[in-house]
Amino acid sequence: MSDMSRRSFLTRSGALVGGLAAASVAACTAGSEDAPGAGGQGARSTVGGFDPSDWDSVRDQFSLTHDLSHFAAFVLAAHPAPVAEAIDRHRKGLDQDSHGYLAEHEVDNEVAVRAAAAEYLDVAAGEVALTDSTTMGLGLLYGGLRLRADQEVVTMEHDFYSTHEALRLRSERTGTKVSRVRLYDSPADASVDEIVGRLLGAVTPRTRAVAVTWVHSGTGVKLPITAIADGLRDLNAGREADDRALLCVDGVHGLGVEDVTAADLGCDFLVAGTHKWLFGPRGTGIVWGRTEAWEAFDVAIPPFEPASYVAWVEGTAPTGQEPGLAASPGGYHSVEHRWALAEAFQFHLDIGKAAIADRTHEQATRLKEGLTNEAGVTVVTPMAPELSAGIVCVRVEAPPETLGRLSEAGISAGITPYAEPYVRFGPSIVTSPDEVDAVTEAMSD
Ligand SMILES: Cc1ncc(COP(=O)(O)O)c(C=O)c1O
Repeated sequence: MSDMSRRSFLTRSGALVGGLAAASVAACTAGSEDAPGAGGQGARSTVGGFDPSDWDSVRDQFSLTHDLSHFAAFVLAAHPAPVAEAIDRHRKGLDQDSHGYLAEHEVDNEVAVRAAAAEYLDVAAGEVALTDSTTMGLGLLYGGLRLRADQEVVTMEHDFYSTHEALRLRSERTGTKVSRVRLYDSPADASVDEIVGRLLGAVTPRTRAVAVTWVHSGTGVKLPITAIADGLRDLNAGREADDRALLCVDGVHGLGVEDVTAADLGCDFLVAGTHKWLFGPRGTGIVWGRTEAWEAFDVAIPPFEPASYVAWVEGTAPTGQEPGLAASPGGYHSVEHRWALAEAFQFHLDIGKAAIADRTHEQATRLKEGLTNEAGVTVVTPMAPELSAGIVCVRVEAPPETLGRLSEAGISAGITPYAEPYVRFGPSIVTSPDEVDAVTEAMSD
């Protein structure tokens, strides 16, 4: 069956799967020139003559209350105006005529979301899987990696619950051996050489996957992913394709902060929710994998994807799937959120990835410098920008009390959800250097 006849067959079969499947056909051929906002996306909505080069104007795009300084906004995103407007528009359309709205807009909107993610990461749209969260992406990846009985996974002591548990569940199901490495003893004193050396030292010929987290949410340490990827490339040289150690990254606290592409990172898989630093729709996320890396992945949840659907109708095995589309769990989702992800990527691209990285790092450095000499406060996160991102963690005697004091001063911060709790700040595009100074002042009280 040709692509065109597949498409018309699927479209004829109705909105149930036809629309999604046709969307996937279109996504397969979408290049980065498919600008988000085109093809079924409405005009972008901004507040007050949005000027992406003005940080006050950026802040004004958020409904976040001005009664607080939002240093924990990265945990679960508030939506900037273009994203909120897109969600609202899709919701209204669906509420008025869900079947008709799906049939009319599904194809273009799915294409636009993948194209926007692809432009942001500078990858092929067909390599991007759409998920609902980082955790869903990690569960899919570590549950679905094809591992022989003799192959093992190396992970780190510093990863979040979602990586550790996804691997433990995998291990319980298949007996896969998972070992954990400690990359640094004192986060503030960590160095690139120490991290890369310890990590590569744990990789053996049996290691099929190295599961790491780009920015550790328990310490704020940012791993030198590019240096790790370079080291792994050397170790992989001469190995057969299915013996290579794949570098799998939970990237959620780097995506939306750092000015890098997937190629800059050099990893094989990048898993991230898009509802943290990217300030995308709540309940959205992506998994990007290099086309060759996806070959090591087995799909567990049927995708709403044309090759799979046509094969099911014809009673054959699916062939010719785009890997990111095949890896995207099927079934309908909260599409008013999913489709508004295009606007979130575009919002960041409009402001500029480099400008966002500079703004975040500038504030994080200012905060760490401001807190360094405070009595009773120990900055845990490294000072160096190459080993830190937006997260700033500090050790204090009684984190809940400190949080209470900050709250009285109108500052929203958090506590790390790890065995050793630190007070955690996340300066971002919704905070300012003045607010950073107010944190330093409140911490000195
Ligand atoms: C490193 C890390 N990965 C994953 C998650 C979970 O993200 P999500 O809500 O997108 O699953 C968190 C915290 O929420 C985290 O700190």
